[in-house]
Amino acid sequence: MEIVHLSAECYPIAKVGGLGDVVGALPKYQNKLGHVAKVVMPAYQNKFIQENEFEVVYNGWGKLGFQTFSVKIFREQTNKLGFDLFLVHIEGLLDRENVYGYHDDTERFLAFGIAVLDWIAQWEHRPDVIHCHDHHTGLIPFMAGHCHQFKNLSQIPTVLTIHNAQYQGQFGWDKLHYIPPFDLWESGKLDWQGCINPLASAIKCAWRVTTVSPSYLDEISFKANGLEDLLAQERSKSFGILNGIDNDVWNPQTDPMLEKKYTLRTVDAGKKANKEALCATFNLDPEKPLFTFIGRLVGEKGADLLPDIFYNALITYNNEINILVLGSGDPQVEGRLWQLKEVFPGNYNVYIGYNEQLSHQIYAGADFLLMPSRVEPCGLNQMYAMRYGTVPIVRRIGGLKDTVIDIGDDGFGICHDQTSVWDVGHAIGRAYELYTDEKETSSDGKRVKEIRKFIMQLDHSWDRAAQQYIDLYQI
Ligand code: ADP
Ligand code: GLC
Repeated sequence: MEIVHLSAECYPIAKVGGLGDVVGALPKYQNKLGHVAKVVMPAYQNKFIQENEFEVVYNGWGKLGFQTFSVKIFREQTNKLGFDLFLVHIEGLLDRENVYGYHDDTERFLAFGIAVLDWIAQWEHRPDVIHCHDHHTGLIPFMAGHCHQFKNLSQIPTVLTIHNAQYQGQFGWDKLHYIPPFDLWESGKLDWQGCINPLASAIKCAWRVTTVSPSYLDEISFKANGLEDLLAQERSKSFGILNGIDNDVWNPQTDPMLEKKYTLRTVDAGKKANKEALCATFNLDPEKPLFTFIGRLVGEKGADLLPDIFYNALITYNNEINILVLGSGDPQVEGRLWQLKEVFPGNYNVYIGYNEQLSHQIYAGADFLLMPSRVEPCGLNQMYAMRYGTVPIVRRIGGLKDTVIDIGDDGFGICHDQTSVWDVGHAIGRAYELYTDEKETSSDGKRVKEIRKFIMQLDHSWDRAAQQYIDLYQI
């Protein structure tokens, strides 16, 4: 099959969160299965573009309302990604440093969609599937199906994957003229609660809808930021497919970003060396259990509670634990996390910002990774943590529920029910007990060592999910 993935992010070209990881891996694994999966994304002004070579495969013009814009589509030359990569260059709109956060994001991603469809409409053949990811590409199923200029694309099956229903990209009807002409009686397919809502439109128009874990699919039929009724209504064409992780990138045996690489056999020494290096950098004590958090500092991740959770834990355990945070987001949370450094020097530290290498070093050097998410459509961090032998402490929600089983249920992680200071504090207590269970001086406890080895062997690779998507395209 020929599958065209459309996305705003794709690792290693541009990544803000898990969406980038998924789109950078799924197509590669679909290709390994013998299919032809491609990625088409915006050409941002970033390092990847500056450091790689491209050929121009399309030169054209697009229209956004009364404005015209010029389009160039580049094909990446080296083939080192495991899939063909096409970058859509639209001067003045897409060629910016960041992926999101501009006042004209609506126009940017609409122009991207129009340019991509204009291009595909000129191909001599039709792809088997157009696979759209999240709301940035959400108007594409509608446009492909209903806009007059894309008539010859209307029979191509479209799939929407919802990575996060919190973000929907809605905008006012005053921008309707941006969408290329269609029969006005179809406008209901754009509307949700009085706005043009790209995510809702894709849920209505895509041939199939997927979520990134089965539990999240169940959850959003009840609560999805206003889309629950629509999702419940479209349930029969919706499927939950659990994300995988890219075992080539996330492999402690080969990871060039680590202080020391390690295997299942050498995990204890390997993690010790990585922990020591991390603790030296962040002024922490490698003899104490290291609790970590990596992620966007937003309400969905429970980040607003982290300062209180950490304060209580450090007081309760009398400085017998270490905490290290890597994240960025809500400035208030950033500020409060920063302030804690002065209260607990030597036991707590934080890096505010985005740092890919540091994230790998933390997965390798940590003992525990916290994910007290209020909402977690899938979550990749817990799977990366396990691959590196770090025990996850997660709330039972969404993809976390689908990937982590509590030690009390013969599992391998620590789970709690609520995103609350008390619940997470209790979970940290259980982790502390686990860490100190049968602990000998300057060596980790027997139980922790066993669990580490066990979780490193769990198979979260993309092989299974890549096939599940192929099966879905064929239903
Ligand atoms: P989400 O996409 O909701 O942010 P995921 O768990 O799916 O959550 O994926 C998050 C991805 O982003 C992981 O690869 C994680 O390591 C990475 N990440 C998040 N915050 C940071 C950060 N501050 N620095 C480096 N990597 C980060
Ligand atoms: C979203 C979700 C996250 C998921 C990721 C990749 O950003 O918040 O839970 O893992 O997409 O699908």
